[in-house]
Amino acid sequence: MNLKELVGIEVAKYVKDGMIVGLGTGSTAYFMVKELGRRVKEEGLQITGVVTSSATEKQATELGIPLKAIDDVEYVDLTIDGADEISNDFQGIKGGGAALLFEKVVATYSKDCIWIVDESKMVDKLGNFPLPVEVVPYGSHNLFRLFEEKGYHPKWRKKADGELLTTDGGHYIIDLALEVIEDPRALATELDNYVGVVEHGLFIDMISRVIVGTSEGPKEIEV
Ligand code: A5P
Repeated sequence: MNLKELVGIEVAKYVKDGMIVGLGTGSTAYFMVKELGRRVKEEGLQITGVVTSSATEKQATELGIPLKAIDDVEYVDLTIDGADEISNDFQGIKGGGAALLFEKVVATYSKDCIWIVDESKMVDKLGNFPLPVEVVPYGSHNLFRLFEEKGYHPKWRKKADGELLTTDGGHYIIDLALEVIEDPRALATELDNYVGVVEHGLFIDMISRVIVGTSEGPKEIEV
Protein backbone atom coordinates (compact mmCIF):
# COMPACT_ATOMS: atom_id res chain seq x y z
CA MET A 1 0.00 0.00 0.00
CA ASN A 2 1.46 3.40 -0.87
CA LEU A 3 1.70 6.15 1.76
CA LYS A 4 -1.10 8.24 0.26
CA GLU A 5 -3.44 5.27 0.36
CA LEU A 6 -2.36 4.49 3.93
CA VAL A 7 -3.33 7.94 5.25
CA GLY A 8 -6.44 8.10 3.07
CA ILE A 9 -7.78 4.99 4.76
CA GLU A 10 -6.51 5.94 8.25
CA VAL A 11 -8.22 9.35 8.29
CA ALA A 12 -11.62 7.86 7.48
CA LYS A 13 -11.91 6.79 11.15
CA TYR A 14 -12.61 10.43 12.04
CA VAL A 15 -15.77 10.35 9.96
CA LYS A 16 -18.87 9.41 11.92
CA ASP A 17 -22.55 8.88 11.11
CA GLY A 18 -24.46 12.08 10.46
CA MET A 19 -21.45 14.21 9.60
CA ILE A 20 -21.24 16.74 6.81
CA VAL A 21 -17.80 16.03 5.38
CA GLY A 22 -15.69 18.30 3.19
CA LEU A 23 -14.11 16.12 0.53
CA GLY A 24 -10.70 17.39 -0.59
CA THR A 25 -9.04 17.10 -3.97
CA GLY A 26 -5.91 15.39 -5.26
CA SER A 27 -4.21 12.02 -5.34
CA THR A 28 -4.17 11.62 -1.53
CA ALA A 29 -7.74 12.83 -0.96
CA TYR A 30 -8.73 10.37 -3.69
CA PHE A 31 -8.00 7.44 -1.36
CA MET A 32 -9.96 9.04 1.50
CA VAL A 33 -12.99 9.54 -0.75
CA LYS A 34 -12.63 5.97 -1.99
CA GLU A 35 -12.59 4.65 1.59
CA LEU A 36 -15.62 6.75 2.55
CA GLY A 37 -17.41 5.40 -0.51
CA ARG A 38 -16.60 1.88 0.66
CA ARG A 39 -17.91 2.62 4.15
CA VAL A 40 -21.12 4.15 2.78
CA LYS A 41 -21.70 1.08 0.64
CA GLU A 42 -20.53 -1.69 2.96
CA GLU A 43 -21.13 -0.28 6.45
CA GLY A 44 -24.13 1.93 5.75
CA LEU A 45 -22.21 5.01 6.91
CA GLN A 46 -24.55 8.00 6.73
CA ILE A 47 -22.75 11.13 5.62
CA THR A 48 -23.26 14.11 3.38
CA GLY A 49 -20.26 15.18 1.33
CA VAL A 50 -19.40 18.70 0.23
CA VAL A 51 -16.94 18.58 -2.65
CA THR A 52 -13.99 20.88 -3.37
CA SER A 53 -13.70 20.28 -7.13
CA SER A 54 -15.44 18.85 -10.15
CA ALA A 55 -12.99 15.92 -10.07
CA THR A 56 -13.97 14.98 -6.51
CA GLU A 57 -17.63 15.51 -7.34
CA LYS A 58 -17.34 12.98 -10.14
CA GLN A 59 -15.57 10.44 -7.91
CA ALA A 60 -17.98 10.86 -4.98
CA THR A 61 -21.03 10.64 -7.22
CA GLU A 62 -19.74 7.44 -8.82
CA LEU A 63 -19.20 5.98 -5.34
CA GLY A 64 -22.73 6.86 -4.25
CA ILE A 65 -21.75 9.35 -1.53
CA PRO A 66 -24.70 11.73 -1.01
CA LEU A 67 -23.64 15.31 -1.74
CA LYS A 68 -24.79 18.82 -0.97
CA ALA A 69 -23.53 22.12 -2.33
CA ILE A 70 -21.56 24.31 0.07
CA ASP A 71 -24.33 26.90 -0.03
CA ASP A 72 -26.93 24.34 1.00
CA VAL A 73 -25.23 23.68 4.34
CA GLU A 74 -24.54 26.16 7.13
CA TYR A 75 -21.28 24.53 8.05
CA VAL A 76 -19.18 21.44 7.41
CA ASP A 77 -18.30 19.22 10.39
CA LEU A 78 -14.95 18.01 9.12
CA THR A 79 -12.95 18.62 5.96
CA ILE A 80 -10.23 16.21 4.95
CA ASP A 81 -7.80 17.27 2.26
CA GLY A 82 -4.29 16.81 0.95
CA ALA A 83 -1.58 19.47 0.88
CA ASP A 84 1.48 20.23 -1.22
CA GLU A 85 3.73 21.38 1.64
CA ILE A 86 3.30 21.66 5.41
CA SER A 87 5.78 23.68 7.43
CA ASN A 88 6.96 22.81 10.92
CA ASP A 89 4.41 25.27 12.34
CA PHE A 90 1.63 23.60 10.33
CA GLN A 91 0.94 26.25 7.73
CA GLY A 92 0.43 24.90 4.25
CA ILE A 93 0.64 25.37 0.52
CA LYS A 94 -2.23 23.92 -1.46
CA GLY A 95 -3.44 24.16 -5.02
CA GLY A 96 -1.11 21.83 -6.89
CA GLY A 97 -4.28 20.30 -8.29
CA ALA A 98 -5.75 23.74 -9.11
CA ALA A 99 -8.59 23.39 -6.59
CA LEU A 100 -7.33 25.89 -4.01
CA LEU A 101 -10.25 28.31 -4.20
CA PHE A 102 -13.02 25.81 -3.56
CA GLU A 103 -10.79 24.00 -1.04
CA LYS A 104 -10.30 27.20 0.92
CA VAL A 105 -14.00 28.07 0.78
CA VAL A 106 -14.98 24.66 2.14
CA ALA A 107 -12.21 24.75 4.78
CA THR A 108 -13.36 28.21 5.89
CA TYR A 109 -16.87 26.96 6.65
CA SER A 110 -15.60 23.82 8.39
CA LYS A 111 -15.55 23.30 12.15
CA ASP A 112 -12.47 21.13 11.79
CA CYS A 113 -9.90 20.33 9.10
CA ILE A 114 -7.41 17.49 8.78
CA TRP A 115 -4.67 17.26 6.17
CA ILE A 116 -3.36 13.94 4.94
CA VAL A 117 0.07 13.79 3.32
CA ASP A 118 2.99 11.50 2.73
CA GLU A 119 6.18 12.39 4.56
CA SER A 120 7.72 14.09 1.50
CA LYS A 121 5.34 17.04 2.06
CA MET A 122 6.64 17.91 5.54
CA VAL A 123 9.18 20.75 5.32
CA ASP A 124 10.85 23.26 7.63
CA LYS A 125 9.75 26.31 5.67
CA LEU A 126 7.24 26.66 2.86
CA GLY A 127 8.19 27.76 -0.63
CA ASN A 128 10.04 25.02 -2.44
CA PHE A 129 6.67 24.05 -3.93
CA PRO A 130 5.57 26.85 -6.31
CA LEU A 131 2.82 28.89 -4.68
CA PRO A 132 -0.42 28.85 -6.74
CA VAL A 133 -2.23 32.16 -7.12
CA GLU A 134 -5.70 32.06 -8.70
CA VAL A 135 -6.43 35.16 -10.75
CA VAL A 136 -9.27 36.67 -12.74
CA PRO A 137 -8.37 36.40 -16.45
CA TYR A 138 -9.14 40.09 -17.02
CA GLY A 139 -5.88 41.95 -16.37
CA SER A 140 -4.00 38.79 -15.46
CA HIS A 141 -1.12 39.44 -17.87
CA ASN A 142 -0.48 42.73 -16.14
CA LEU A 143 -0.58 40.98 -12.78
CA PHE A 144 1.89 38.44 -14.16
CA ARG A 145 4.26 41.30 -15.09
CA LEU A 146 3.85 42.78 -11.63
CA PHE A 147 4.86 39.48 -10.07
CA GLU A 148 7.87 39.37 -12.41
CA GLU A 149 8.94 42.84 -11.26
CA LYS A 150 8.59 41.74 -7.66
CA GLY A 151 11.01 38.88 -8.34
CA TYR A 152 8.39 36.21 -7.66
CA HIS A 153 9.32 34.22 -10.80
CA PRO A 154 5.73 33.66 -11.98
CA LYS A 155 4.75 30.87 -14.33
CA TRP A 156 1.37 30.29 -15.96
CA ARG A 157 -0.32 27.01 -15.08
CA LYS A 158 -0.95 25.29 -18.41
CA LYS A 159 -2.75 22.20 -19.59
CA ALA A 160 -1.01 19.39 -21.47
CA ASP A 161 -1.93 21.03 -24.78
CA GLY A 162 -0.10 24.24 -23.79
CA GLU A 163 -3.27 26.31 -23.30
CA LEU A 164 -3.74 28.19 -20.02
CA LEU A 165 -5.53 26.05 -17.45
CA THR A 166 -8.91 27.32 -16.30
CA THR A 167 -10.00 26.41 -12.77
CA ASP A 168 -13.44 25.16 -11.71
CA GLY A 169 -14.16 28.78 -10.80
CA GLY A 170 -13.24 30.01 -14.31
CA HIS A 171 -9.92 31.62 -13.37
CA TYR A 172 -6.24 31.24 -14.31
CA ILE A 173 -3.44 30.12 -12.03
CA ILE A 174 -0.04 31.78 -11.77
CA ASP A 175 2.54 29.73 -9.86
CA LEU A 176 5.18 31.70 -7.95
CA ALA A 177 8.62 30.07 -7.64
CA LEU A 178 9.64 31.64 -4.36
CA GLU A 179 12.00 28.93 -3.08
CA VAL A 180 11.50 29.95 0.54
CA ILE A 181 8.68 31.88 2.18
CA GLU A 182 10.08 33.47 5.35
CA ASP A 183 6.79 34.98 6.50
CA PRO A 184 3.75 33.15 5.07
CA ARG A 185 1.31 35.31 7.01
CA ALA A 186 2.73 38.55 5.57
CA LEU A 187 2.81 37.12 2.06
CA ALA A 188 -0.79 35.92 2.40
CA THR A 189 -1.88 39.44 3.36
CA GLU A 190 0.11 40.93 0.49
CA LEU A 191 -1.44 38.56 -2.06
CA ASP A 192 -4.93 39.17 -0.65
CA ASN A 193 -4.49 42.81 -1.54
CA TYR A 194 -3.69 42.53 -5.27
CA VAL A 195 -6.63 43.47 -7.45
CA GLY A 196 -7.45 40.47 -9.62
CA VAL A 197 -6.15 37.85 -7.18
CA VAL A 198 -9.09 35.65 -6.27
CA GLU A 199 -7.22 33.41 -3.84
CA HIS A 200 -3.79 31.97 -3.17
CA GLY A 201 -2.53 28.64 -1.94
CA LEU A 202 -1.28 29.75 1.48
CA PHE A 203 -3.53 28.11 4.05
CA ILE A 204 -2.84 29.75 7.40
CA ASP A 205 -4.05 28.36 10.76
CA MET A 206 -6.61 26.10 9.17
CA ILE A 207 -6.07 22.63 10.56
CA SER A 208 -6.31 20.74 13.85
CA ARG A 209 -4.48 17.61 12.79
CA VAL A 210 -2.11 16.18 10.19
CA ILE A 211 -1.82 12.52 9.35
CA VAL A 212 1.54 11.80 7.77
CA GLY A 213 2.21 8.59 5.89
CA THR A 214 5.64 7.22 6.83
CA SER A 215 7.32 3.92 6.07
CA GLU A 216 6.66 2.98 9.73
CA GLY A 217 2.94 3.67 9.31
CA PRO A 218 0.61 6.64 9.72
CA LYS A 219 1.82 9.29 12.18
CA GLU A 220 -0.83 11.61 13.66
CA ILE A 221 0.15 15.09 14.75
CA GLU A 222 -2.25 17.25 16.71
CA VAL A 223 -1.77 20.92 15.94
C1 A5P B 1 -5.52 20.45 -4.98
O1 A5P B 1 -5.65 21.71 -5.55
C2 A5P B 1 -4.49 20.49 -3.93
O2 A5P B 1 -4.62 21.46 -2.95
C3 A5P B 1 -4.21 19.14 -3.35
O3 A5P B 1 -4.89 18.91 -2.17
C4 A5P B 1 -2.76 19.10 -3.15
O4 A5P B 1 -2.17 19.51 -4.37
C5 A5P B 1 -2.25 17.73 -2.77
O5 A5P B 1 -2.40 16.88 -3.85
P1 A5P B 1 -1.82 15.43 -3.86
O6 A5P B 1 -2.47 14.71 -2.74
O7 A5P B 1 -2.21 14.91 -5.21
O8 A5P B 1 -0.33 15.51 -3.70
